[in-house]
Amino acid sequence: MSARGPTTFNPLAAAGTALDTPLARILAERIQVEGPMTFRDWMDACLYHPEHGYYRSGRPTVGRDGDFLTSPEVHPLFGAAVGHVAASLWRSLGRPNRFRIAEVGPGSGALAESILRHVSADEPELAEVIGYTLVEPDQRAAESPQQRLASFRGVKTSSDLSRLQAEHQLVVANELLDAIPVHLLCFGNGRWRERYVNQTPERGFHFISGEPSSERLLAPLREVTPAEGQLVEVAPQRGEIVSSLRGALAERGLLLLFDYGYTRDRLYAPWRRDGTLMTFRRHVPGDDPLAHPGEQDITAHIDIDQVHDAARTAGLYALPVLNQSEWLHRLGAAVLPAVAEAQSDTSAYLAARRAAETLTDPAGLGRVAVIGLSRGELPPLPGWETA
Ligand SMILES: C[S@@+](CC[C@H](N)C(=O)[O-])C[C@H]1O[C@@H](n2cnc3c(N)ncnc32)[C@H](O)[C@@H]1O
Repeated sequence: MSARGPTTFNPLAAAGTALDTPLARILAERIQVEGPMTFRDWMDACLYHPEHGYYRSGRPTVGRDGDFLTSPEVHPLFGAAVGHVAASLWRSLGRPNRFRIAEVGPGSGALAESILRHVSADEPELAEVIGYTLVEPDQRAAESPQQRLASFRGVKTSSDLSRLQAEHQLVVANELLDAIPVHLLCFGNGRWRERYVNQTPERGFHFISGEPSSERLLAPLREVTPAEGQLVEVAPQRGEIVSSLRGALAERGLLLLFDYGYTRDRLYAPWRRDGTLMTFRRHVPGDDPLAHPGEQDITAHIDIDQVHDAARTAGLYALPVLNQSEWLHRLGAAVLPAVAEAQSDTSAYLAARRAAETLTDPAGLGRVAVIGLSRGELPPLPGWETA
């Protein structure tokens, strides 16, 4: 089983050739009519085409039956830790008689279920007043978390992040931003050029270079000293999403994001010549983002400075960034009751122990960045008290 770890390949060296999926035929036709497309548009279609996109096709994506593992899919320990933060936030806000959580991109509903279970067991008074909104644009994708959470009260679904009211004390998203489409840029002869996807009968899908499709793609690269041939990913859309997430926060509230990513100096360091783009199919990392359109995951690490800049512009205060390993170790007390409960059954206990190792693995999920952004003044939260 694989979490989405580091990459060691150059995606530009790869090119899919076969029109082996329904989406491949649609995209080949589109390129014939409209010409080469930005990699952002390619990735957007591959992940979010309404019928054939990876996250829209109705097939399992994350989890053991899917293509890669996310933290909520590993074990409820992860959700227990988030639930512990939620309970602390509720208490520090004076135990309001309505506490709203929005989760954006809820996948299978595993995170929501473990947060709600933890809160019911640990803070029953909060469980009585919780409202939990799943933000999932795709109706078919929303069905599985809705069914999974049917026994909890106060759960509803919204299809559009930008329509949420500014009333949520906690907005949480796991691996949302690293699934947002990226532009690819490559440095050569003193300037950045953008990579576009082209298709011909002889070469199949392949990359070609051109002028950047927009000047704003270059903004995060101004301070960067790139190596010749360096490849980077840039995604202005992620900043816009952070602004929308902020729009859902109440006057005092916390935005909690978990994503693979680095600060800009590390993300665009000259030694990271091949960028961070990677694919996943049946738990195997792949090296060709042009292969099997719509039938494999494509992801790229986030620029943590971009998230912080967008958050500050939107009036949020950035808590120190932690990695998931540090954060979970600090929250041990919250996680322990779940393990202790499992102790009555040896195999469950051992599974929880193994899960804790997986969730804190410094080469895997333990590397995930935990980004806390607060609106209004909040007291120190569990995980950050000593940060
Ligand atoms: C890598 S998956 C993570 C799923 C889940 N959070 C987990 O950890 O298992 C990324 C999810 O973000 C969702 N997503 C992308 N853009 C979104 C948006 N604008 N609003 C809500 N969800 C979105 C995708 O549909 C996909 O389900």
